[in-house]
Order: sequence, then C-alpha cells, then structure tokens
Amino acid sequence: MARAQARFACQQCGAVHVKWTGRCEGCGAWNSLIEELPREVTPHGLSKDRRGRQLGFVGLTGPSMLPPRRGTGIAELDRVCGGGFVPGSAILVGGDPGIGKSTLLLQAAAAIAVPGGAAYITGEEAIDQVRLRAERLGVSESPVLLAAASSVRDIVASLDREDGPGLVVVDSIQTMYLDTLDSAPGTVSQVRGAAQELIRLAKRRGFVLILVGHVTKEGVIAGPRVLEHMVDTVLYFEGERGHQFRILRAVKNRFGATDEIGVFEMSDRGLVEVANPSALFLAGRAAPDVDADEDALTGAGTEHLSGSAVFAGIEGTRPVLVEVQALIAPAVLGTPRRAVVGWDGTRLAMITAVLDARCGLSVGINDIYLNVAGGLRIVEPAADLAVAAALISALTETPVPADTVVFGEIALSGDVRPVGHTEARLKEAAKLGFGTAWAPPRRSARTGRSRVAEAELKTVAIGHLSELVTRLSARHAPHRRRVSEISR
Ligand code: TYD
Ligand code: MG
Repeated sequence: MARAQARFACQQCGAVHVKWTGRCEGCGAWNSLIEELPREVTPHGLSKDRRGRQLGFVGLTGPSMLPPRRGTGIAELDRVCGGGFVPGSAILVGGDPGIGKSTLLLQAAAAIAVPGGAAYITGEEAIDQVRLRAERLGVSESPVLLAAASSVRDIVASLDREDGPGLVVVDSIQTMYLDTLDSAPGTVSQVRGAAQELIRLAKRRGFVLILVGHVTKEGVIAGPRVLEHMVDTVLYFEGERGHQFRILRAVKNRFGATDEIGVFEMSDRGLVEVANPSALFLAGRAAPDVDADEDALTGAGTEHLSGSAVFAGIEGTRPVLVEVQALIAPAVLGTPRRAVVGWDGTRLAMITAVLDARCGLSVGINDIYLNVAGGLRIVEPAADLAVAAALISALTETPVPADTVVFGEIALSGDVRPVGHTEARLKEAAKLGFGTAWAPPRRSARTGRSRVAEAELKTVAIGHLSELVTRLSARHAPHRRRVSEISR
C-alpha cells in the first residue's frame, strides 16, 4: 500500500496542492496553504479501526432544561429578545458609534434582577464616565458591578465563579484583547477569539452575555459581522443621528422571532420606551382626528401638502404607521437624480418605471427625492402603493386625503397585489383616527372572514395603479392642472 502523501489545502478556497507555495494558485490568496495529512481510509470514507458511538435519538417533545427567561422590565427590549433574555445565551448589540448602545445596556443592567447581579465591563470608558452617565440616567443606586477592563484573561478569571453575575455586558468587543493572539484589539482574529472565550464561559456558567459591537461604515476591520454566526441573538440599534428615535431590530434570534422592533426615544434622561410608535412617526403631521395621542400628534407645520402618504406597515408583529414623502423636480442635468432615505432605491426605480409604462405618466425623467419620515427604514413590499401615492401626489400636486392610509404591493403589470396582516393594519389606522384605507382588493375566498376594523374604516379597493392615478388627478382637485398636461 502506498504511503499516505502529505498535501496542502488552501483554507480560503479548498484547492489541494502537492507542494507548499506562498500563494494559492486556485484563488490567489496569500499564505493560505496548510498541510493536511490524509488518514488511512476505508472505501466508504471512515477509518476502520474505530467504530462511532451510537447516538441516542429522542423525540421533539420532552422535558426542557432551559431556565426561565429574565426580563429587564424595559418592555421594548424584552419584546425584541422574544420575551426577555435566555440564561446562557450570547447577544450581540451592534450599531453606529454614538447611537446609544452603552446607554441602553447600562439602563438594562440597572433594571434587570438576576441572581448574582448584573456586571458592566467597559473597555471604552473610564469608571467616572460611566458613573456620570448612571447619575444622569437616574440609576446610580442600582447594584451594578462596574469594571473597566480589556483583557479577556482577567475578565474570564473574575467571572468564572459559581456565584458570578447573572448578566454580563461587555462594552465593546472591539476593545477586548486576548494575550494569546499577536494581532491588535479590534482585528478580526482578536474580535473572534475574545468573543469565543467569553461565549464559552457564558454557556458554561449560564449567564446572559451581551456583547456590544460597533459597525464601521467600511465594515472591514471592526465589523461585528464576523460574530453574527457565533452568538444566539443579533440586535441592531439604528436611527438617524439627527432624530430622537432609536430602533432596536432583531436580525437573528435563536429564541424568538426576528424582524421585531423596539422603538425608543433619546431624551436627556437616557432612552425612553415608545409604546405607540405610530403616533411618534406621524408627529408633526396634520392629524386626521386627534383623539389618539394629543401631545404626539399635534405639532408645528401641520398644513397638509401634496407628495406625502401615510403607509400602514407591519414591523415584526406590530403595525406601524409612517409617512412617506416624495418630492419631484424637473431634472436639470442629463441623468435625473434619485435620493432615497429609508427605502430601497431599486424598488423606487421599479415603481417609477411601472408608473411610466402602465399609467402613462412621466415620473422617471424627473429628479426624485423620497423620504420615510422619522428615520424608520421600511423593507416591506407592501409600501409600494404608499410610495406610488406619494409620487403621484407630488407630480399632480394633489394631496392624498389627510384621513387616508395606503398599503399594497405593486406588480410589474401595474396590478396591486394583496399583502399580509390587512386586519392589523386597518385596526391600527382606525385606532389613530384614520377614516379610509386605500388597499388591495380582497380575494373573494376571504370574504367570509370577520372584519373587525372595516366597520370603523372605509376600505377603497385599488386593483390597478391607474385607479390610484385617477384618484389623485385633477378631477378631484379642479383648481389643479390635469395629469396629462403636467406629464407632457
Ligand atoms: P452612547 O450610549 O454612548 O452611544 P454608543 O455606546 O452607541 O456609542 O450614547 C451616545 C449619545 O447619546 C451621546 O451623543 C449622548 C446621548 N445621550 C443623551 O442624549 N441622553 C442621555 O441621557 C445619555 C446618557 C446620552
Ligand atoms: Mg458606547
């Protein structure tokens, strides 16, 4: 039998070479070849000298060993996590610097009640800075164990105890440093190595581990994306710097639903939960009926203008109303400008193309600015119809009626397709005082269903985009020019 021959496998692309070289010929990666000695194998792959252990298969139901979840009492945070933190799990909280991660987690550490208490380990700030913040947040009396450290060896040594803390916040993983690795803190290998050590300890000791990770715009080095597959839950904290709102979004959750959002408002006393986000996102807009939340809905500049539509959306399991604003201006240069905030630019291009091709408008030749008010980012295709309404309204200078919400997905043919959660959308709109919904026609098979919200809300079925154009054209606003004149 021939002696097993050493071979060199590229760790990037898997190409196998018979000789070591500095650069893989397969993918061009440098220094990626590692010697692998093939074992003696039987024809069907596994070595013959050792038999595998028999696995004990079990059913899907059985006694579960998971300890109960730990709620922080911050309802928006608990909901995003699926109803509190699961002991022994690792959570990554990512977000731009300065968005409020440290603030939120200090508030959570102060509010949570876990055996052994909560520990907050900062590698970024001095003890005094954290104390000052705690004072501002009004939580300085809470029994939080505070430490400034960045050596993972020290942290592990301090936490590896029977009576250790039940929740550990590490702020941030980019500042942590493992002395067994040569590279500097913040590099991918350090971030990965440090997280691995901490997560292993969390699983063994059963504490909740929260890692803070900064997302850099380039995402090259410090990006916590390398950690996403190592942790159980990934939360992203988003929001526009200029806005007060902060949105906590679950993008991965082994213990709950994803796409759930928590809405907070940054105040001078830290992050405050927003229980009714629709009222917040519609603040400053002419309210259809101010019985919902007077303070939030009344504001300056409430004059109702064309180019805006209220979208009845769903974020996770919760309906959220947001305002979509569009501005259309004649293009001065050859290529029309497109500026989109809070929505997908490709989707906008599709809708302008459908408006041009199926409804005979000339939207596409203009500069288009589209904005989702309040700093929310919408990913639902159900927003198509609201975006189209805002665009048509901007083009024809005809306001969408103030008491109307819009939702529906647009097909390339111009047909409006049904979307999910219609009931919830209508209910939320009715609750906030809206009287009409422009929505996709209901499928006939569904007519037997109970329609709670429809009693309070008039639903206008929009089957094709051209019906929306008719509603928003000059016929309904006689003092305006007709669509056909404008689009020419
Ligand atoms: P921070 O939690 O330090 O952000 P991160 O950890 O994500 O980098 O919060 C940063 C901002 O929050 C900072 O610009 C100040 C503001 N802030 C308030 O407006 N009110 C407050 O009570 C606190 C503590 C911070
Ligand atoms: Mg911070």
